[in-house]
Amino acid sequence: MKKISILGSTGSIGVSTLDVIERNPDRFELVGLAAGSNVEVFAEQIKKYRPKIASLFDTTKIEELKARVNGVDVKIVPGQEGSVAVASHAEVDLVVSGMVGCAGLVPSYAAVSAGKTLALANKETLVVAGEVILREAKKNGVSIIPVDSEHSAIFQALNGEDPERIRRIILTASGGPFRTFSREQMETVTVEDALKHPNWDMGAKITIDSATMMNKGLEFIEAKWLFGLDTQIDIIVHAQSIVHSMIEFVDTSIMAQLGIPDMRVPIAYAMTWPDRAECDLPSLDLAAMGNLTFEAPDFDRFPCLRLAHEVMDAGKTLPAVLNAANEIAVQAFLDRQIGYREIPELIESTLERHTPHAADSIEDVLNADGWARNEARQLLTAKA
Ligand SMILES: NC(=O)c1ccc[n+]([C@@H]2O[C@H](COP(=O)([O-])OP(=O)(O)OC[C@H]3O[C@@H](n4cnc5c(N)ncnc54)[C@H](OP(=O)(O)O)[C@@H]3O)[C@@H](O)[C@H]2O)c1
Repeated sequence: MKKISILGSTGSIGVSTLDVIERNPDRFELVGLAAGSNVEVFAEQIKKYRPKIASLFDTTKIEELKARVNGVDVKIVPGQEGSVAVASHAEVDLVVSGMVGCAGLVPSYAAVSAGKTLALANKETLVVAGEVILREAKKNGVSIIPVDSEHSAIFQALNGEDPERIRRIILTASGGPFRTFSREQMETVTVEDALKHPNWDMGAKITIDSATMMNKGLEFIEAKWLFGLDTQIDIIVHAQSIVHSMIEFVDTSIMAQLGIPDMRVPIAYAMTWPDRAECDLPSLDLAAMGNLTFEAPDFDRFPCLRLAHEVMDAGKTLPAVLNAANEIAVQAFLDRQIGYREIPELIESTLERHTPHAADSIEDVLNADGWARNEARQLLTAKA
């Protein structure tokens, strides 16, 4: 019986993880849940799944949470201290890291420090602090198992293969809702347009990241940390999101992993690896799909892809600054403060103002993150 904590249980990844646990009662036992501020959904989850420990980041809602779960035997710990306690609880074997943004960094690091297997959806953790997290994982003999469908695909295609024999990784991208849009068409897109992802049903931040293709940029950085900094990684646009990614080996053979676009599959794989679980989902109907298409990405129309490559090459604190500025820009877009095309502009302006320094510790990364948020907010105020 694997004992599980979920970071970000009220989100899209969190809800899918609870569904996987519910479908496999003989395999998993839930120990801890952590959420941000959605007190209604969180209280219902606590009442239904009965974790031993639960944490709500928003300390102003703790009393309301306690009232809503009155009578349930659960330890409630507020704030980041709470999510760290959920991640490092003595009974837990595996932590599903499904918070959004850099908020996931400290609890994910706590899980790794406490020797827990990390099923990682929160790609921002590796983007901002890849070196620090991997060093800590190595020190504690911890496995980091990717949940992102693309990285899960690469992980699955690598099964039993020698990583030394990889020629390149081919990371697939849906291209998002504006895949075929000209720059002029992009000028007038709305928040509602950007929130309509063609294939995946996800949280708002990653959906906007998919529309700007920053999501693929972040995944490119995540893949570098997971599968080797020297590994060549090419991005290919595959609008149907059926081939989740591929590896080309030195003999030119390509291994691909295909599947329906449902996050419960890679989540279950990360939780059961090296085994697999019955998922009770419909099989992929390739005949009904008809065609699978592939095209080169356009770094000019999607400048976030270029920015992500540049910060990965430059390293140091630049990936943390890119990520923080992106979080501010995406929120400003969702709040209708800036337009879609201003997202990469704000990120690039923030990066230009940054003097990179070493990102050797969580503190270094958090300082760079804080600096970038401040700077991006000032740039926003100056624009208004
Ligand atoms: N959704 C997908 O299909 C998918 C696929 C691949 C990778 N990912 C990655 O998985 C992560 C989560 O994505 P998502 O789509 O599930 O996002 P989401 O639906 O927006 O959920 C985010 C979760 O994080 C929680 N949260 C936010 N800030 C927090 C904080 N400071 N402390 C504690 N909890 C906090 C939220 O809590 P409240 O709602 O209670 O505020 C919510 O539970 C992202 O890194 C994303 O890139 C997602």
